[in-house]
Amino acid sequence: MSTTIIAHRGASRSAPENTMSAFELAYQSGAEGIETDVQLTKDNVPVIMHDERLKRTTNGTGYIKDYTLSQLQQLDAGTWFSTKFSGETIISLHELLQWLRNKQLYLNIELKNNKIDYKNLENIVVDMISQFQLQNRTTISTFNPKSVRRLSTIANQIDIAFLTSKRRKRLVENAKLLGASAVHIKYPLLSNRLIQQCKQENIPVRVYTVNSTNRMQRCFDYGSDGIFTDIPEQALQCREQFNNQST
Ligand code: G3P
Ligand code: MG
Repeated sequence: MSTTIIAHRGASRSAPENTMSAFELAYQSGAEGIETDVQLTKDNVPVIMHDERLKRTTNGTGYIKDYTLSQLQQLDAGTWFSTKFSGETIISLHELLQWLRNKQLYLNIELKNNKIDYKNLENIVVDMISQFQLQNRTTISTFNPKSVRRLSTIANQIDIAFLTSKRRKRLVENAKLLGASAVHIKYPLLSNRLIQQCKQENIPVRVYTVNSTNRMQRCFDYGSDGIFTDIPEQALQCREQFNNQST
């Protein structure tokens, strides 16, 4: 099986991360999946944003949790990246799923609940995925081990990934004990040994954030199940060259 190319926050090198433009560009470039981050608004709506705060990627200030969806929709989420994207807005998870539903894309929803453990986020997201019947091509991931455990009790048809940036003893065993069915690791944690162990245990391993040719090649070589990249177009080219060389 070849490594799936997943656009990290959409095609986030070419467009403002986690916006419709970034997802559309990822899709146009031929990416096979998209990764995105979810936070929860004051009125309990899951929205697509990496940070808990608005400052870095919008013209707002403060925390997402203190605003309603309609307040957040007034903000500009594109100008920080380039004036070419002025008027880009924060989108809800619902809007993203509507866009994705008729496209052949794998989806990774990362719950951003490791800093603020949003109440009920797991249930809200799982219900929405079920409503759109996207269970068989979605992975929900989180750095929060408690949330992995909660997810494992409610999301029985959805792939659940434990996300980690830290070197841990018995990562695979512990992820399984939490109820995860996959692991998503930061690139420095990648080793052939880990990949082989995961293959034996039938646990997919996906690697973030892989933006250089050398790193991509190493992931392809070891047979990781997926890579998260800001530059899906280049990753697809790189994978094609890699496959041609290895045949
Ligand atoms: O889901 C993989 C990766 O996105 C995790 O880190 O900070 O880019 O959301 P971050
Ligand atoms: Mg993420």
